[in-house]
Amino acid sequence: MIIFVFLSLFAVTVNCIFYDSYTGNVISKDEVKQHDKANNTFWCVGEFEPCDPNEGRRVDGSCNNLQHPTRGASHTPFVRVLPAVYDKDFEPKTAKSGNAMPTPRYLRTNLWSVGKVSSQLFTQLAIHDFVFMSADVVSLHDTVKYIIWKPYCCTAKGKTDRDCVQNKIPDDDPVHRFSDIRCLNMTRPESFQSTGCVKNGTVPERITSSTPLLDLSMLYGSDLKSLLAKGRLFKGGLLKYEISNGRIWPPSTKSQINLCLLNDKPRETRCHATRKCHSGISTQ
Ligand SMILES: *[C@@H]1O[C@H](CO)[C@@H](O)[C@H](O)[C@H]1NC(C)=O
Ligand SMILES: *[C@@H]1O[C@H](CO)[C@@H](O)[C@H](O)[C@H]1NC(C)=O
Ligand SMILES: *[C@@H]1O[C@H](CO)[C@@H](O)[C@H](O)[C@H]1NC(C)=O
Repeated sequence: MIIFVFLSLFAVTVNCIFYDSYTGNVISKDEVKQHDKANNTFWCVGEFEPCDPNEGRRVDGSCNNLQHPTRGASHTPFVRVLPAVYDKDFEPKTAKSGNAMPTPRYLRTNLWSVGKVSSQLFTQLAIHDFVFMSADVVSLHDTVKYIIWKPYCCTAKGKTDRDCVQNKIPDDDPVHRFSDIRCLNMTRPESFQSTGCVKNGTVPERITSSTPLLDLSMLYGSDLKSLLAKGRLFKGGLLKYEISNGRIWPPSTKSQINLCLLNDKPRETRCHATRKCHSGISTQ
């Protein structure tokens, strides 16, 4: 398996094919250059070596479907079961009556209880497992977006940024009725339109960034280049680690940018870096 991974890495540098991430069609080097110029190659272009019908599963999710090699790879669109329904300008749709739909926060606190233990029998961990799984098979970048890229949505600046959709908290919120917080920073998901891969004015199509298999790709990574450069040891299936005082630790962040999201020094100084995100920011 290790040998296979290294062979793949070698092949990537030698012999790869560029695909349009949205359509899955092969594109030319010139088209890639145009994306380089527009600074959106990260989102709009997939780079994969040719599929081999006899190879095993790839960590990057490509070649699951030999006819459509990018399907299941990072930065590809979701498959819609039904067409999207938006209000004007792709704002959230209203109810049939014309009234606004219930707020996201209302649904979130009613469907996923917080701050109260609703059952003495069933573990509350199930919900966290679900959230963890969604990062494994869907995306993490939209969380990174409101935490790191655009962390200001509840401030005055957020009012003028279309990427911001303030998450309003009602006064009787089960958690925040005890605090003065009435807004949570929230951003619109990245789409092929917002990243400039597809022209604006068309129905926004979200971007998946994880592979569709339950493979802990949000920990181990799904991008060969970042896997090699960063988190994985390529030995015994392990992540890189350090031993200090006879104990195993995640790598220290001393010599790197702060990898510990929402966990700033001096509270946390060690985090695993295995996923490549936008502009070199990594999440643990
Ligand atoms: C929203 O972001 C601002 C700016 O980073 C921060 O000061 C504030 O605490 C955040 N709000 C919440 C509820 O997390
Ligand atoms: C499309 O619209 C989004 C959001 O308004 C904006 O951030 C982006 O730059 C636009 N893209 C293009 C290619 O005009
Ligand atoms: C290119 O995009 C990255 C990530 O969005 C950003 O950090 C960088 O400043 C952009 N570069 C230019 C030249 O616009």
